Amino acid sequence: MITIAILGMGARGYTYAQAIGELEDVKVTHVCEVNPIKKEFVKQMFKIEENNYYMSDDEFLSKGKLADILIISTMDQWHYKHAMKALDLGYDILLEKPIASTEKQCQEIADKAKKLNRKVVICHVLRYTPFYNKLKEIVDSNLIGKVRSITQTENIGYYHYAHSYVRGNWHRGDITSPLVVAKSCHDFDIIKWLIGSNCTTVSSFGSLEYFKKENAPLGSAKNCYQCKIDCAYNALDFYKKNPRWFMIFSLDPDVEKVLSNPEHPYGRCVYQCDNNVPDNQVVNMLFANNAVAQLNITAFSNEIHRNIKIHGTKGEIEGDLEAMIITVKVFGGKIETFDVRNIASDFSGHSGGDKRMIKDLINSVKNKNDKVTLTDIDEALESHKMAFKAEESRLSGGQPKTI
Ligand SMILES: NC(=O)c1ccc[n+]([C@@H]2O[C@H](COP(=O)([O-])OP(=O)(O)OC[C@H]3O[C@@H](n4cnc5c(N)ncnc54)[C@H](O)[C@@H]3O)[C@@H](O)[C@H]2O)c1
Repeated sequence: MITIAILGMGARGYTYAQAIGELEDVKVTHVCEVNPIKKEFVKQMFKIEENNYYMSDDEFLSKGKLADILIISTMDQWHYKHAMKALDLGYDILLEKPIASTEKQCQEIADKAKKLNRKVVICHVLRYTPFYNKLKEIVDSNLIGKVRSITQTENIGYYHYAHSYVRGNWHRGDITSPLVVAKSCHDFDIIKWLIGSNCTTVSSFGSLEYFKKENAPLGSAKNCYQCKIDCAYNALDFYKKNPRWFMIFSLDPDVEKVLSNPEHPYGRCVYQCDNNVPDNQVVNMLFANNAVAQLNITAFSNEIHRNIKIHGTKGEIEGDLEAMIITVKVFGGKIETFDVRNIASDFSGHSGGDKRMIKDLINSVKNKNDKVTLTDIDEALESHKMAFKAEESRLSGGQPKTI
């Protein structure tokens, strides 16, 4: 039996606990979560004994190693403290992305893991999706020749952007981590993986232009419950229609009551918050093998989806993660379309990535396997360096930064 402790039982911790519940010979035995409202619910839901439930990270981390694996799913700014201490205690770790809030902290965690010979897996769940696995298989088969360029767009979705990057957890890059790190370390990881070479240089432009006070409609109120304006971002309308999004921050299902509190962050006008992350950003990348790539991160999309275009010397590939369709066009040859839904069945949690990643980690610990999983920290460090350098470039007006 593999035992698991979870530090931070928020949206991600809960997702992993549920995925673990579906596996054999593995159990969540310990939880540390600071929010008192969650305690009874979590204890009951995952059958956690009273003595194994902690509400202080310091107390939890003072108890030594309590389980085989520790999942660290607290917010970005806590990862460094929690991971460094957990490594000292002897845990193998599943660490949520981003590894930490600065490049230096990421490197220190990786160095310590190497020194102590511990497994640290970073939740780059996209590497485990059937969609990106199929893309990787096609690219590695040489069907389109040598990859010369990739363009990926991270369509955040206007309502997701408002939820997470204007009102919610990642609205201030200086407190958590910059948008290009928090959101797109995934994209850099995938692009680098497909190109199969290290990135040497990045440059980036982007800014916050729209979700600012000067764009608030005339006559709008500071909080949506008092506002008479017809608006795509009205929090009450959105969360009433999307109760699962509401549950991310409220256990009380009464949207009207919860968001009629003027202090509630998720009920604020999107034009009158204290957010500072860009709503649009582009990153150019050069790789050691002279391939190039471009990433476009935008708040301004109707749906949440990632789309990708890969240009090789012998053909091109187009794909959309959420549509799950991949089209391969070999120059002078046939056009083939793959529907990823026909090659796998479970697409829950990040297009099927969450559960597959957990399974891989559990198997590798169970089999005392020294083989790295797809997303070990050394791999993940590369994408984080690309992301932090991209932010450095953006802040310097787009100057190229070497990695
Ligand atoms: N892999 C992915 O694709 C993916 C997707 C979303 C989020 N994330 C990452 O997962 C992490 C968590 O995100 P989330 O959406 O679950 O956030 P969340 O706010 O829902 O969860 C964080 C939880 O940690 C708790 N917490 C805060 N400080 C704590 C402390 N000191 N000790 C113990 N618990 C503490 C909070 O009360 C909360 O319940 C973030 O770093 C985020 O970037 C990764």
